[in-house]
Amino acid sequence: MPSPIVTLHDAIAQQDLSISPPPSGLSVGGKIAVPGDKSISHRALMLGAIASGETTIEGLLLGEDPRSTASCFQAMGAEISPLNTEKVIVKGIGLGNLQEPQDVLNARNSGTTIRLMLGLLASHRDRFFTVTGDSSLRSRPMSRVIKPLQQMGAQIWGRKDNSLAPLAVRGQQLKPSHYHSPIASAQVKSCLLLAGLMTEGKTTITEPSLSRDHSERMLQAFGAQLEIDPETHSVTVIGPATLQGQRVIVPGDISSAAFWLVAASIVPSSELLIENVGINPTRTGILEVLEMMGADIRLENKRTVTGEPVADLRVRSRQLKACTIEGNLIPRLIDEIPILAVAAVFARGTTIIRDAAELRVKESDRLAAIATQLNRMGARITELSDGLEIAGGTPLKGTEVDSYTDHRIAMSLAIAALNAQGTTTIHRAEAAAISYPEFVSTLQAVCRN
Ligand code: S3P
Repeated sequence: MPSPIVTLHDAIAQQDLSISPPPSGLSVGGKIAVPGDKSISHRALMLGAIASGETTIEGLLLGEDPRSTASCFQAMGAEISPLNTEKVIVKGIGLGNLQEPQDVLNARNSGTTIRLMLGLLASHRDRFFTVTGDSSLRSRPMSRVIKPLQQMGAQIWGRKDNSLAPLAVRGQQLKPSHYHSPIASAQVKSCLLLAGLMTEGKTTITEPSLSRDHSERMLQAFGAQLEIDPETHSVTVIGPATLQGQRVIVPGDISSAAFWLVAASIVPSSELLIENVGINPTRTGILEVLEMMGADIRLENKRTVTGEPVADLRVRSRQLKACTIEGNLIPRLIDEIPILAVAAVFARGTTIIRDAAELRVKESDRLAAIATQLNRMGARITELSDGLEIAGGTPLKGTEVDSYTDHRIAMSLAIAALNAQGTTTIHRAEAAAISYPEFVSTLQAVCRN
């Protein structure tokens, strides 16, 4: 039985999500699973497409972003069976064999699709590619991958001095290089590692701190030779590589679990078990911060599944306290800052988030989006140039808010609404389907009167 607390109103392509907790409040409970990890899903589709032989993917995220990756690689000749969570079969076409697509490749909303794919396109000699995305993606910086690729000899053209999509790429035989990235970005790192696969010699990237390492893990599982120096945050791929199709089991996405970790922490009398969540240490900043804030989260049944650590997470509500989130922690929770801002609104004291200017160039300007929308509900958040100052403890009141068409903003606002008085209506809530198509049905399932 769907809960009457959560209702969805469809307009042509847009949805308003309304959340009306009863005046006495609600609680959050039950046992849930979250959909497959978005980063791992993209990588499994891409490596499956370019490897030799067959790759099977279990637990693939069926969100809009991996669908964009699948359709781009299908347009370049990869055979991918209909997407489902049980088993997707990718018939690899072998490294270097991506075909020149007859039309523009469209990464739609997905930064991971366009940035990682560019490394492959740039290194496919004598083939011509054009790539675009939706209005959000067309405004996001691409020079962070174009510049280091050009250093390797890539030929890429784009709007605004080669910095914005649509982009045109003429594939080249690239030369190896050592790139020192000014930002810790797994998209930049992965783009260059993929470009290095067909480049003779050593392609190295050094980042200021460690970003998520799913590419390194999966490339090694597919047979690529990597050298990893954890001290200097450097990764080298030795090309030319050979990749062999594998079985990939995608764990649940900790970035999706984050919404429920915060929901069950801030909504009184809640207890939730979230099964099968990826706990790769490059992604668990959210767990460390919630622990610092006093949350009650237990990791149960820890195991390793096709090279990635996994656990079930049990969370019970607790009064949270403020904390400071900055430095090397930021890349390890980069996608969780909007939902951590919601946690901070209900915490005692003032939470400071710094070193997070990257959030301004995500699917939306996430610092501006979360601050303005939570403030509309009564929060007291001040935007900093590279973060947020959040004065906790003021009760929220339901009102009309907007997702900015950003999936993580839509879902963060929905969790804030669980603890607000009265009805909150989130406009353009359909954005949640980018990374979490079942978000609303899970929300309905966990809400208890
Ligand atoms: C991702 C890397 C991160 C993250 C994004 C997914 C990836 O982006 O925000 O959601 O799969 O590599 P950056 O590399 O821009 O930090």
